[in-house]
Amino acid sequence: MAIASDEIARIVERYPPVPAVGTIGSHSAIDVADGAVAEGLASVVIAQTGRDATYARYFRTLWDAHGARRRGCVDEVWEYPKFADIAAPEAQERLRQRGVLFVPNRAFSSYVPLPAIESDFRVPIVGSRAMLRIEERSERENYYRLLETAGIPSPRPFPGPEAIDRLAIVKLPHARRRLERGFFTAASPEEYRAKSRALLARGTIAADDLAAARIEEYVLGPVFNFNFFFSPLGPRAEGLELLGVDERRESNLDGMVRLPAAQQLELSESDRIPEYTVVGHGTLTVRESILEEVFRIGEQFVDAARARYPPGILGPFCLQTCLDHDGHPTVFDVAARIGGGTNIHLALGHPYGNALYRGPMSTGRRIALEIRRAAAEGRLREIVS
Ligand SMILES: Nc1ncnc2c1ncn2[C@@H]1O[C@H](COP(=O)(O)OP(=O)(O)O)[C@@H](O)[C@H]1O
Ligand SMILES: [Mg+2]
Repeated sequence: MAIASDEIARIVERYPPVPAVGTIGSHSAIDVADGAVAEGLASVVIAQTGRDATYARYFRTLWDAHGARRRGCVDEVWEYPKFADIAAPEAQERLRQRGVLFVPNRAFSSYVPLPAIESDFRVPIVGSRAMLRIEERSERENYYRLLETAGIPSPRPFPGPEAIDRLAIVKLPHARRRLERGFFTAASPEEYRAKSRALLARGTIAADDLAAARIEEYVLGPVFNFNFFFSPLGPRAEGLELLGVDERRESNLDGMVRLPAAQQLELSESDRIPEYTVVGHGTLTVRESILEEVFRIGEQFVDAARARYPPGILGPFCLQTCLDHDGHPTVFDVAARIGGGTNIHLALGHPYGNALYRGPMSTGRRIALEIRRAAAEGRLREIVS
């Protein structure tokens, strides 16, 4: 059974006046840690043995003789054999004892089973616990449902491969690397059959995933990932902020588009199917006349989330869009938590966040600021679930 919000509220009310900020050591952890220390809070990163050096060594806080930070922003690294160990009762108790407010990222919701997060993880989460599940496309109550309710444009789905009559993208997990993608595109049922046969034979995709895959219209246009923040602490009209916009580098898709057409055609048949594995991010701004529509869909999302998953969005969220030929954003993916590309404004801030706050404002820092504000007013329970 899902943990009652009252229970989390009672836990957070016993927290020390200055809580610490914790997150899983992957994804956007450096942004979160950097933001925490920038706002005077301690940072705790949960690392997995064997993939801990980034946090435990290279971004680890080093202190000078007077106890001031000399370098780095990861104050404490708690190493476990597996990320999922953070959900064990003793680990949860350690988090509560340390007064850790937990920032959920995609590594958390991927490596810790969702039922454990929803029903067992009795640590205050800065964000919406109930909305982590909507990212799973296989769920009936997924983000497509929410976008539809919200009236936000998303790519038109095809009921099956036979209905493909224009460029479509087929979304399914990779057969072996389950957290990666086995996406492919097809413009006709014939192309769908040929490509899926090749990918099945190569072991990139599995037949049962293919049968359950989401097939949707491919939106021809640049990808803009809008990193928003919603605060429930002030008036509703001031709640929504746009902090920054990122785009992705995806291997080997980006390698391919950097080739002149003649060389692309020389690629072997198997190299011509791009992989959408995210390997990095870049920063963007958007034409100003498009911003109003961006804010409109942000507001619609916040309202729909509040109605369907009360109390709704708390803190950061990301709407991943393609801008179509007329510059209208079409939302193809949603993160109801910190997005994967916020390191673009890590420590520096982003033009939009900085314009709002008159100084460097990253997503990590905005989260920490929200915690400080809520703590100062005795309202921590309103920003956690
Ligand atoms: N409908 C679409 N039209 C065009 N490109 C798309 C579409 N959906 C996804 N993509 C591309 O595939 C990438 C990954 O898609 P996404 O839905 O975000 O998958 P995931 O849930 O695995 O993050 C995007 O960054 C974008 O480049
Ligand atoms: Mg995505």
